[in-house]
Amino acid sequence: MKITPFSGDEEPLLGTTPSQPKLRTRPRDLCRRSLVLIAVLMMALLVFSLAKMFLSEALIDLYGSLNPFPAPLQDARFRFTSLSDHDSCDSIPKTHRFDCFPDFSSGITKDQCESRNCCFVPVPGQHVGIGVPWCFFPPGAVHYEAETPKVGPQGISSRLAIRARSGFPDDVVHPLFTAAYENDGRLRLRINDSEHARFEVPLNLPPPSTTSPRLLYTVELSRKPFGFVVKRKATGTVLLNATVAPLVFANQLLQLSWEMPTHLLYGLGEHRAPLLLNTTWSRRTMWAGDQGPKENTNLYGSQPFYLALEDDGSAHGVFLLNSNAMDVVLQPAPAITWRPIGGIFDFYVFLGPRPEDVIQQFLAVVGMPLMPPYWGLGFHLCRWGYDSSNATLSVIQAMRDAQMPQDVQWNDIDYMHNREDFSYNKKNFNSLPDVIEDLHNHGQKYIVIVDPAISSSQTPGSYKPFDEGAKRGVFIRDSSGNKILIGKVWPGLTAFPDFSTSVAQEWWFECLRDFHRQVAFDGLWIDMNEPSNFVDGSVNGCPNNTLENPPYTPAIQGEKLNYKTVCTSARHAHSSHYNLHNLYGLFEANATYRALERLLNKRPFVISRSTFPGQGRYSGHWTGDNWSHWWDLRMSIPAILNFNIFGIPLVGADICGFMDDTTEELCVRWMQLGVFYPFSRNHNDIHKKSQEPVAFSTFSQRAIRMALDMRYILLPFLYTLFNRAHLQGTTVARPLFFEFPNDKMTHGIDQQFLWGSSLLITPVLEQGATKVTGYFPSGTWYDLFTGFALVSRGENVSLEAPLDKINVHIRANSIVPVQGTALTTVAGRQTALGIRVALSASGMASGELYWDDGDGVDTQEKGLYWMFSFIAGQNTIHSVIEHQNSGIQIPRLGFAIIMGVEARPSTVTLNGASIPFSYSHDGILMLPKVNAPMSKAFTIAWKS
Ligand code: NOJ
Repeated sequence: MKITPFSGDEEPLLGTTPSQPKLRTRPRDLCRRSLVLIAVLMMALLVFSLAKMFLSEALIDLYGSLNPFPAPLQDARFRFTSLSDHDSCDSIPKTHRFDCFPDFSSGITKDQCESRNCCFVPVPGQHVGIGVPWCFFPPGAVHYEAETPKVGPQGISSRLAIRARSGFPDDVVHPLFTAAYENDGRLRLRINDSEHARFEVPLNLPPPSTTSPRLLYTVELSRKPFGFVVKRKATGTVLLNATVAPLVFANQLLQLSWEMPTHLLYGLGEHRAPLLLNTTWSRRTMWAGDQGPKENTNLYGSQPFYLALEDDGSAHGVFLLNSNAMDVVLQPAPAITWRPIGGIFDFYVFLGPRPEDVIQQFLAVVGMPLMPPYWGLGFHLCRWGYDSSNATLSVIQAMRDAQMPQDVQWNDIDYMHNREDFSYNKKNFNSLPDVIEDLHNHGQKYIVIVDPAISSSQTPGSYKPFDEGAKRGVFIRDSSGNKILIGKVWPGLTAFPDFSTSVAQEWWFECLRDFHRQVAFDGLWIDMNEPSNFVDGSVNGCPNNTLENPPYTPAIQGEKLNYKTVCTSARHAHSSHYNLHNLYGLFEANATYRALERLLNKRPFVISRSTFPGQGRYSGHWTGDNWSHWWDLRMSIPAILNFNIFGIPLVGADICGFMDDTTEELCVRWMQLGVFYPFSRNHNDIHKKSQEPVAFSTFSQRAIRMALDMRYILLPFLYTLFNRAHLQGTTVARPLFFEFPNDKMTHGIDQQFLWGSSLLITPVLEQGATKVTGYFPSGTWYDLFTGFALVSRGENVSLEAPLDKINVHIRANSIVPVQGTALTTVAGRQTALGIRVALSASGMASGELYWDDGDGVDTQEKGLYWMFSFIAGQNTIHSVIEHQNSGIQIPRLGFAIIMGVEARPSTVTLNGASIPFSYSHDGILMLPKVNAPMSKAFTIAWKS
């Protein structure tokens, strides 16, 4: 996905310009004006009556057809079911009541409800807002009618005509509905305004491929009331039944509901909740906010995508390409209601049928995830509160002394001078350049934080980032467009760059380039990019207009759009903040990724707090300010799995927790889980107790070191998974149901997860536990430590889990490439490669390895890599070189561990020559001295 230059469709994209502040009128003026107004009205009435008498019928008709709400509105035939007909209202099951008055959070009256021709049936004790609505659409309610359906092999289109007002201001009179059959597994459903341009998310989207007769879906259109139904062709399952409630398409409120075939829903972020969504009246609000993980509220990013699992194990997904604030409501029908407050409805439906297919189809639209540099998969250490370069160095040194693997050291805002971006504190952080050099000399890397907010109150000429930015016009402007909008963040008064323009991207690059000359960072941490603001809107407040106070405000933290961010009527180059807010992190990530690539000519490493679909292409994500609590440890798993579903696989939570003091036990358990986050970083809040691995007892340090060793051993496998994700859009950390969609037991599991399809991680998430119960889908699973086989019929198994052990199992049928332990990835990449082979009952297994220089740009695209398949069967394992590049060095294969070998072999050979081996009765065959060059295909064979 590329961010397109905007097509020049400038404001007002919502068709509204911010209203001017109202002037106060003196009473006498008011009186005079009222008299004039009455006189004008009476004159108009007189003229109209005379015209009516004298003009021909034709002219009256013409007048009628220009009226956006002509005759049908006055025609009883177009009214909803009679309002007094309570039987028909009552007959609608509670599960199928769709909210007709979402803009009224409490205390709605019968009159108000019936003013919208809706059913009023109070449900006492029901929590208004996210429960059964008291005011809901009656059966057969018509808002729009499909006027002119055109059906063809590429899809359906129809102009819609309004037949009843929604009750919200500025209903769109003639929406245009299109169902485009983009390819076999991808359908695009759009509802736009056929007469006026509206804001659309400025992403470059792939064109449809030519339609084939093998479409996995059918679409049916209901003309009156307008609606549609999407079915899976193979099974006839109705995936979306959007005839259950009328479409609302007003300027600042769009609402569409559909019934779904399943309660098994996942996604819709960024939120904290179990992996399996709650369809018993729950609400997901999407509006990027500076809010640490907390239940039932909008968090840092907006991810309007869900994946649904059907009865037969088939999966489909839906992505709403819309960046406006929205509520998404789930109800027990099961049904979903999408309620954005601007833009258009632009849905993509992905037909799967496997869960992994759905993610791949989704990412083919929004963009494949980046390939991280190899070092980025090593262990990262950070905290807020390393208040000097010496303090930073001493922790790096302590980690080395303790032989603790670490690839990357980070600094938080402490390193800055007065907390200003692109500066460093020459007093406390005087030796920072030396510390970085020392890291580099040890094969380690350095990452700093940068915030988007730029200090705006320096003496002119003393702070170039602001001076230059202001000169080039890169900052967001207030709603008048005349002044830079000023808010408050860490350095005090600040301006906010509008990263969407090429001018701003160039300015950002130059700021980073100049800063890099002083501080040789290797990657960047982009924080506070919702964007966060310590004052609501701006230091001058915000005007009172419909962009700040729309007719409907989703259920966001702070109850107003500009809460802890900039004014929504503030102006970016191409649209209002109202439209672009949720894209801020995406634009900043894009600008930062491109700047780093230019600056370093290496694969960029960027971690961002705010996200939008497609961001995986430019950055990873960490889940923000969690707590050092057991609950946060546990809830980090669904969060990590969700971001894999959203196409941002490079994701992790702050290991050991950010806020509050951790405990030694919690931190050990968290490190054990955290080494299995695709992005693994221990980060801590200012003034909180130290929680680096070296802060604990020798016993705990040993346990943590074992966990870190495990990650480093498995890095060739993890890197290969990221390569697959980058190429095909697969997940890295994967929910169990992705691999076992027909096993009902897996559908709600979010305390265990997989790496790819092969490794099952079963962490301890409870204080004091020395055992953990995990679910093992049917099959054989080998303990990664001991190689012992666990044969499951699909059951819960209680596992020993003393404080120094995390349970990880390899799934039978897999071959996992590994390497030796090391303190850094630079050292690790020099060690011999190995394979861990987990044989199935029939003695089969397969796997793969991707290998390149670790940080080159587009190595895959340029062919600068090796790719191997490994295949085991009939007492042999052989490698297949799928792609080679002799310019890229690759270690030799040093060892193999084969699990599931039924009997002690008499000989083991490598390419026909005997090699030493050992065998244990548990079926584990160890080959410690393989020593085969990977550049030649090898065969390992054993004979009983
Ligand atoms: C907020 C971030 O979420 C947190 O990780 C960071 O430490 C603080 N900002 C200070 O920069």
